[in-house]
Amino acid sequence: MTSFGVHDTPMQELFGEAVFAAFDDADVGPDEVEALYFGNAMGGQAENTTHLGPQVATHIGMAGKPVQRFEDACATSANAFKNAVQAVEAGIHDVVLVGGVERCTPETGKDTDEMTRIFASASNRQYEQPTGLTFPGVFALLTKRHMHEYGTTEEQLAHVAVKNHGHGALNPKAHFGKETTVEEALDGPVVADPFRLMDCCPFSDGASAVVVVSDDLADSFDDPVDVSGVGHATDVVPLADKEQVHVTQSARDASAEAYGQADITAEEIDFAEVHDCFTGAEILASEALGLVEDGQGGVAAAEGRTRRDGDIPINASGGLKAKGHPIGATGTAQIVELTEQVRGEAGDHQLDGVERGVAHNLGGDAGTTVVSVLEARP
Ligand code: COA
Repeated sequence: MTSFGVHDTPMQELFGEAVFAAFDDADVGPDEVEALYFGNAMGGQAENTTHLGPQVATHIGMAGKPVQRFEDACATSANAFKNAVQAVEAGIHDVVLVGGVERCTPETGKDTDEMTRIFASASNRQYEQPTGLTFPGVFALLTKRHMHEYGTTEEQLAHVAVKNHGHGALNPKAHFGKETTVEEALDGPVVADPFRLMDCCPFSDGASAVVVVSDDLADSFDDPVDVSGVGHATDVVPLADKEQVHVTQSARDASAEAYGQADITAEEIDFAEVHDCFTGAEILASEALGLVEDGQGGVAAAEGRTRRDGDIPINASGGLKAKGHPIGATGTAQIVELTEQVRGEAGDHQLDGVERGVAHNLGGDAGTTVVSVLEARP
């Protein structure tokens, strides 16, 4: 993956940076790769750029090869990853490049207000957009309900921010290298009640890519990591039609599918990268994935259980909160993180003795969720 943050590089070149790193890592070139499964969510609106697939293929030397483009809001490249894994399992391809790119910062010419409006296009056009609901508001509503049901507090949310900023400070590719404190987080300006500045992920630019190969070929590569499960589910949209907004049903369904394929229970997972677009979203995800009991997500964060030295480390990379969130690149960046952790190659933010990790990437108001389990190859 590239560093996440502010980049003045055109999308093709930014994606190329991640791709050439993936090619180097796998010791392959564009000739050996049979297809590109590619994610970009907002390029049409943010930079007047659609039909990006052949453009990035041209830049990385893959013109002529098939390119499939995915758009599932923030779950864009996780869905590309799922489809690439399935294509390889089905025997359609043996070597597939998967990744995503997004530019969301003012380098696009769009400021926070404009980008917030663009992101809101991932909500329901008929009923939600006319109310002015934007994504900080969507996740504020989900989190408010969780607070109502379980007594989750703003201080517990702040603990998630402190943890992820602390983790991000160890990751040189993170958007923010700055730690924060509970006091600073609780004192920040309100963005959408109960979220303050430190509860929100930033708008980031970045790209990520991985090479997926068939089981038969894997052992001819250096240090391959197994994909043991990928689950994918949707949930009803709009928000008002969901039975229980704080439950994030698609994450429960996608994780059940992924754990079933991997033949594991949540207790057998060593670490997780979850979609913490807002601190409350991490709390909901930790419960939906079965990493903590329902209602205990906030408590677990405040007790330090989800810190890198806790019993179930969550977002050792810094997560979306501190590592950053370039929409179409986030899903495969989580796969990069899981791969590096399982290989023991995560540098200063390496966790001790981890062999199996789970990635949780959601789109919109969790209308889409993709959950992937990666583990050391026996
Ligand atoms: N977390 C921590 N600090 C942040 C931050 C964030 N998310 N966003 C900006 N900052 C910092 C900046 O580094 C800057 O610090 P400095 O003054 O020390 O340089 C300061 O806050 C102001 O930055 P600015 O870019 O002017 O902030 P903003 O008001 O334009 O945007 C948010 C802040 C939180 C409103 C914006 O990042 C946001 O909307 N985030 C959510 C994105 C989103 O909805 N993504 C989709 C998820 S589903």
